[in-house]
Amino acid sequence: MLLSTILVLFCSDTCQSATPTLTILHTSDIHGWIYGHRHEPARNADAGDLYNFIYHRKMRRSPNEIVLAFDSGDMIEGTGLGEVNDSRGAEIFNIMKDIPYDGLMFGNHDIKYDKSVDHLFNSFAPVFGERYLGGQGVYYNSSKTLGNPFNVLSLGTEGNILVIGFTYNIANVQTHIKVTGVSAYLKLPWFAQAMAVPNVRAIICVCHIGSDHTHLDNIHGKIRSHHPSTPVVFLTGHTHTERTMDLDEEGFIMEPGRYFNKIGVMSFTLPPKTTKRTKTNFAKLEEVNGGLVSGIDKSTFNHKYLETNVTKMQNEIGMNSTAWMTTMGARIRANLQSRLRTFGLLNQIGCSPQTYSNSAYASEEKSIYRLLVDVVYPASGGKRSDVFRHNGIINNGQNEQNAIKTLYIQDVKMRYSMYEGPVLLDDLYCTDPMGYEQHGILNIRGSHLKALWESEGSKSSTPKKGPSLAYLGVEDDEEALDGNFNDDRWLTTCDIVDSEVYDLFMPNNVAAQAKKILDIIAPGVYSVQTTGMTSRQIFQKFIQTHWKC
Ligand SMILES: *[C@@H]1O[C@H](CO)[C@@H](O)[C@H](O)[C@H]1NC(C)=O
Ligand SMILES: *[C@@H]1O[C@H](CO)[C@@H](O)[C@H](O)[C@H]1NC(C)=O
Ligand SMILES: *[C@@H]1O[C@H](CO)[C@@H](O)[C@H](O)[C@H]1NC(C)=O
Ligand SMILES: *[C@@H]1O[C@H](CO)[C@@H](O)[C@H](O)[C@H]1NC(C)=O
Repeated sequence: MLLSTILVLFCSDTCQSATPTLTILHTSDIHGWIYGHRHEPARNADAGDLYNFIYHRKMRRSPNEIVLAFDSGDMIEGTGLGEVNDSRGAEIFNIMKDIPYDGLMFGNHDIKYDKSVDHLFNSFAPVFGERYLGGQGVYYNSSKTLGNPFNVLSLGTEGNILVIGFTYNIANVQTHIKVTGVSAYLKLPWFAQAMAVPNVRAIICVCHIGSDHTHLDNIHGKIRSHHPSTPVVFLTGHTHTERTMDLDEEGFIMEPGRYFNKIGVMSFTLPPKTTKRTKTNFAKLEEVNGGLVSGIDKSTFNHKYLETNVTKMQNEIGMNSTAWMTTMGARIRANLQSRLRTFGLLNQIGCSPQTYSNSAYASEEKSIYRLLVDVVYPASGGKRSDVFRHNGIINNGQNEQNAIKTLYIQDVKMRYSMYEGPVLLDDLYCTDPMGYEQHGILNIRGSHLKALWESEGSKSSTPKKGPSLAYLGVEDDEEALDGNFNDDRWLTTCDIVDSEVYDLFMPNNVAAQAKKILDIIAPGVYSVQTTGMTSRQIFQKFIQTHWKC
């Protein structure tokens, strides 16, 4: 961590007359993508390159430039190294703890499992100390939080930069952490302390919050009542979208997308210390096209999204491969490769006959969902899914002729495409990193299925009209608001016919909710059975059996 102290104190007394430029490097929603993108050659940078980039960019800053690096969370759950062996992200955190970030915030995936929370609290956050901005997360049965609410970076005689961390109101799904809601959090004593920090030249909010969320208006409004014209930058995440927004004349939002596809780079000149602008124009959020932001500072408020192509990263700072690799970068890379081998993630498990896309409609032949529904789950080609047959759920084919269609409900969408050619164990994890255990409800009548599908209701435990689709398997409120839990969670490639029967596959929590609804529609008729396998195991078994190279 040799860099971290250098960064903060950028300037000695010799440069106090010039106006400093602040350059921000920003990552978010990395989701374990820290060893390149095997199927996307243009995105070949790994965590070693990320280290090199931040290191060199900081070392090569201009005399009056401050270069800071931030991450807005969801570092884990997305690739093999994060999820293999049930490590719940520990392997990713262990690597990423060496990246010289100046501020980090956690996201919902970072705290989805207690194991991840414990790792964050005990091993990851302590490495960053005051730079870990997890004040909104309270560690279980203690008053300790995952980090500071805010941090002050000193610019010496030039004043201070205030860095604050926020997340959206992540529902408390695990027992080891409780997240304080944004509104309540802003009323806690830390906020007044943060606003009382003297000589603040810029405020950076590191947020695991989507760029268009009203939380940002709330936070922005509260900050503006203390700092009417200080530059405020919101480094956002969570929605996996690359976008830049103008919040007001001195307020700016940048979200760099997902999977370490891009690094957000922003640069602007701090307003002169003496300027006292009072105008607070809370402009409506507006997407900005092109590389510059509208408003007073448009000539100095630059940003770009830099693809994680190593050559482009080197070009960005006027380097080539000659002096690129650092000792720490090399160590990170060696460590990554060693851990990938340890877990067998580079082992080939089969060969895919074509590319199956996770963004194609289920109606398209290239859709990975269609593959799962029509081919993987009913792998034998028979009427009943192989998954049930192999796990002894169906006895003597008793109901076999009845179950004519297989439907499959996905709790969280497939996160990556399955590419044509050799399939490595890691590819399987990237496609289906969540890997929930699958449960089934068999022989659902078409009429009941439609009623289940169309049911509307509340999220109370005793639904009145029958719970809504969003109620089925809501992971947390935000996800539901994001529209992730919608019709497209119900996957079928056939028309539902009232008189026919169907099998549903779902993760446990979704199945339990579906059963509750079905018990209202048709009391006592249906039961939930486990397949004893995760969706990933089911897919892996299929690949190993049917996709021989
Ligand atoms: C990476 O970026 C360089 C420089 O722009 C470009 O020449 C190269 O083609 C890129 N790599 C890939 C695989 O697209
Ligand atoms: C995988 O997990 C098991 C059980 O926790 C552990 O014994 C084993 O050492 C782990 N494997 C690796 C390669 O870390
Ligand atoms: C803390 O909470 C956990 C989980 O609820 C519980 O198992 C443990 O006993 C508690 N520890 C203390 C010291 O209260
Ligand atoms: C790489 O950069 C170094 C230093 O800037 C320079 O001396 C060297 O010639 C460059 N190498 C190539 C292959 O361009």
